[in-house]
Amino acid sequence: MSISCRITVGAILAVLAAFSSSSSSQPVTPAGCPSSCGEVTIPYPFGLSEDCYLNPSFLITCNDTFSPPKPFLRKSNIEVANISLEGELRIYTYVGSSCKNNQSGDWTTNSTISKTQLSSFSFSTTKNRFTAVGCDTLATVTILNGDNSSSGCLSMCNNYDSVSQGSCDGFGCCQTAIPKNIRNYTISVGTYRNLTDVWVSIPCSHVFIAEEASFKFSKDNLTNMQPHESVPTVVDWAVWNETCAGASEISSSYACKADNSLCYDPQDINGYRCNCSQGYRGNPYMTNGCQDINECVDPNDNECEKICVNTPGNYTCSCPGGFHGDGRRSGEGCIRNESLVVKITVGVSAGIIVLLFFVGFLYFWMKRRNLIRLKEKYFKQNGGLLLQQQLGNGDASTSSNARIFTAEELKKATGNYNESRIVGRGGYGTVYKGISPNKTVVAIKKSKQVDPTQVQQFVNEVTILSQINHRNVVKLLGCCLETEVPLLVYEFVSNGTLFDHIHGGTKMSWETRLRIAAETAGVLSYLHSAASIPIIHRDIKSTNILLDENYVAKVSDFGASRLVPLDQAEMSTLVQGTLGYLDPEYLRTSTLTEKSDVYSFGVVLVELLTGKMVLSFDKPEEERCLAMYFLSSLKEGRLFQIVEDSNVKSDDDAQQVKEVAMLSKRCLRMRGDERPTMKEVAMKLEGIRVMAQHPWVAVELNHEETHNLLGEAFKSLDHAYTSTTNESMMDQLLPSMSGGR
Ligand SMILES: *[C@@H]1O[C@H](CO)[C@@H](O)[C@H](O)[C@H]1NC(C)=O
Ligand SMILES: *[C@@H]1O[C@H](CO)[C@@H](O)[C@H](O)[C@H]1NC(C)=O
Ligand SMILES: *[C@@H]1O[C@H](CO)[C@@H](O)[C@H](O)[C@H]1NC(C)=O
Ligand SMILES: *[C@@H]1O[C@H](CO)[C@@H](O)[C@H](O)[C@H]1NC(C)=O
Ligand SMILES: *[C@@H]1O[C@H](CO)[C@@H](O)[C@H](O)[C@H]1NC(C)=O
Ligand SMILES: *[C@@H]1O[C@H](CO)[C@@H](O)[C@H](O)[C@H]1NC(C)=O
Ligand SMILES: *[C@@H]1O[C@H](CO)[C@@H](O)[C@H](O)[C@H]1NC(C)=O
Ligand SMILES: *[C@@H]1O[C@H](CO)[C@@H](O)[C@H](O)[C@H]1NC(C)=O
Ligand SMILES: *[C@@H]1O[C@H](CO)[C@@H](O)[C@H](O)[C@H]1NC(C)=O
Ligand SMILES: *[C@@H]1O[C@H](CO)[C@@H](O)[C@H](O)[C@H]1NC(C)=O
Ligand SMILES: *[C@@H]1O[C@H](CO)[C@@H](O)[C@H](O)[C@H]1NC(C)=O
Repeated sequence: MSISCRITVGAILAVLAAFSSSSSSQPVTPAGCPSSCGEVTIPYPFGLSEDCYLNPSFLITCNDTFSPPKPFLRKSNIEVANISLEGELRIYTYVGSSCKNNQSGDWTTNSTISKTQLSSFSFSTTKNRFTAVGCDTLATVTILNGDNSSSGCLSMCNNYDSVSQGSCDGFGCCQTAIPKNIRNYTISVGTYRNLTDVWVSIPCSHVFIAEEASFKFSKDNLTNMQPHESVPTVVDWAVWNETCAGASEISSSYACKADNSLCYDPQDINGYRCNCSQGYRGNPYMTNGCQDINECVDPNDNECEKICVNTPGNYTCSCPGGFHGDGRRSGEGCIRNESLVVKITVGVSAGIIVLLFFVGFLYFWMKRRNLIRLKEKYFKQNGGLLLQQQLGNGDASTSSNARIFTAEELKKATGNYNESRIVGRGGYGTVYKGISPNKTVVAIKKSKQVDPTQVQQFVNEVTILSQINHRNVVKLLGCCLETEVPLLVYEFVSNGTLFDHIHGGTKMSWETRLRIAAETAGVLSYLHSAASIPIIHRDIKSTNILLDENYVAKVSDFGASRLVPLDQAEMSTLVQGTLGYLDPEYLRTSTLTEKSDVYSFGVVLVELLTGKMVLSFDKPEEERCLAMYFLSSLKEGRLFQIVEDSNVKSDDDAQQVKEVAMLSKRCLRMRGDERPTMKEVAMKLEGIRVMAQHPWVAVELNHEETHNLLGEAFKSLDHAYTSTTNESMMDQLLPSMSGGR
């Protein structure tokens, strides 16, 4: 149970005592003034003698009779424990006690405090507590320097156990705050119950104003506290009795003498105090008392992370080279300048990326450009310009359907030259089956390298062949010159080669064979008689005669063909052709005439007649070369022994076989000029055919098969056909064709 009350006017006791001592550091006193008394430092404005204190309020009396000497406040008996420049000093005050007199039963007061000596200072309201220890104690404190207002507390206890150890909660000990500005007070102690029903063995009550922090209540204090015992008490001091506003800085009595000092008005006490400005420390009441703090000495005084430079009243932080930032721990601190490195790195990386991108772009652009250039180069190399000119400048009657394909088109058409698309492979190159951009099936021939010196001829060949619109010639649809080797695009002939059918077991009737022979002869005659520039096929053989689904012959592979200029009846070339079909005279002389084609055609005729291989190395020597074997057999009258049986099914057949055999024999003459012309051969074969079909009808030449040759050639050929059936006249008309050796 505790009571805290304000009672106007109290009574009885005033207790307090004070003792003190002090300590100091730095120049705390003016020169010549002792700075301490005993162990207590006495800083200015306090002083031990007249010239050493600010004013008499700050007099400290040092009593040397004690050992060590003890300081007392002014001329009183209040001992000073210590003094701080922040406006506090500690004194020792005496505990006031009141004990019940056994005899009289009266209370006796044992101790009082001087009421006047603390005149200019006051007890700290915040740090002190009015405390009473007892078991039937009503303690009051009355402020005498004001309106006699009182404060007090009540402490009760019935027995030892009811006292709480360690806390002044009203059981054995009570505490209360003291009013402000107490300089003069009396403490009175009374009983609440006249000590009835109380713990009678505790006859004394003790009251005092003491520093709260220094008094820790213990149960023992009920019995062990002695009257006249001293306790530390905190006293606020200030320069009496003006405020900062009232105290003039220019006045000689102004206390804040130090430069870099400030004046401030304390809250709890009249008067003012001085303080050193921030960044300075020392004694602001003394001239030069405030010294700059070198914050850089103690890391706790500054917040520099790396470099600290002291300045008057302050300090600056900085960062060493390679760092940036404000250098403050609470701020940015010092940041390694790697951000610059990072920046550079990032910049360089970005640059590199951009560069790479650019280079990549350039690379692909160059590559593409090179590709285009290469294409252009090939195009030129392959005679593209010439060809374009020739194909392009022809008038409507001569312009062909041939066109120039792009490399991409053909790549797409052949599925990127897929192996599965290959339909033929030979000395000439590779043939792929493909689908052209306009959805027709085409054969695409990848030629062998074109000799740059023969570009003109190649171009002419392509030009001419593209304009041949003969039903028995594999039509050239176009070409592509953008690739390293020219690509030729032909109509696709579905039924394979004549060779396949002769030697592949297909039963071709004699009639078909004869028609194929006639058709082939017709084509060759047509080529040879091409007016301005006769064409020599040079590689007539059964593998170069393709058959469509109706077994119509289509002569193909003009890759070896040579155009024979009119003013040059014969030309020297490298011997080229296929063994077995090769004209022996050409082989011997290297001189090419169209009679070489006649010889080769003769071999094909024999092949058709006999169904035998042109060269059979597994046969006896005399049978190895079909042409020779045929001629010798014919000479020995054994024609029908070597002719394929299926060819001779009737007497008519036999007659025709015989005639074809005779024609073959002529074609196979060793001397080219003894061989018939292709025209003659063609007419003869046609004659044999027609007679077989309509023995009663006279020979009639078929114009249809030979019309529509290009321009001039067409007309002259047509003329040749229509105007004559006479061999000699034809020779006159076409001197170059018959002008062999
Ligand atoms: C010092 O203290 C003693 C004992 O308390 C006292 O007798 C004496 O008068 C004091 N001296 C002064 C100068 O106050
Ligand atoms: C002052 O005295 C009190 C109580 O005796 C003590 O706690 C404190 O440390 C002292 N201060 C100085 C600066 O001596
Ligand atoms: C008071 O009286 C009691 C007994 O009645 C005794 O024990 C005690 O010592 C006395 N105290 C004093 C201070 O005389
Ligand atoms: C205080 O009490 C003690 C004993 O308790 C006594 O010796 C002394 O004389 C008393 N002092 C006063 C002033 O009554
Ligand atoms: C303190 O109180 C006493 C008694 O009432 C009085 O004589 C004295 O003048 C007062 N001192 C101050 C400073 O109020
Ligand atoms: C305060 O108390 C004193 C004596 O104790 C008395 O003389 C004075 O008149 C009182 N003052 C007030 C304002 O009550
Ligand atoms: C307290 O008790 C004493 C005797 O023990 C008596 O003389 C006195 O009158 C009492 N006081 C009160 C206020 O009861
Ligand atoms: C209170 O009691 C404790 C423990 O016995 C003791 O140390 C302390 O000095 C006492 N206080 C006072 C003011 O006598
Ligand atoms: C307080 O200040 C007033 C007015 O300046 C003055 O009259 C008075 O004497 C001062 N008191 C003390 C104790 O210095
Ligand atoms: C006095 O100055 C110091 C440093 O400038 C500061 O820390 C302190 O709070 C100041 N004291 C008062 C009471 O203003
Ligand atoms: C000290 O310097 C810092 C920054 O330089 C500034 O923020 C601070 O206010 C200064 N302190 C004083 C007391 O001038």
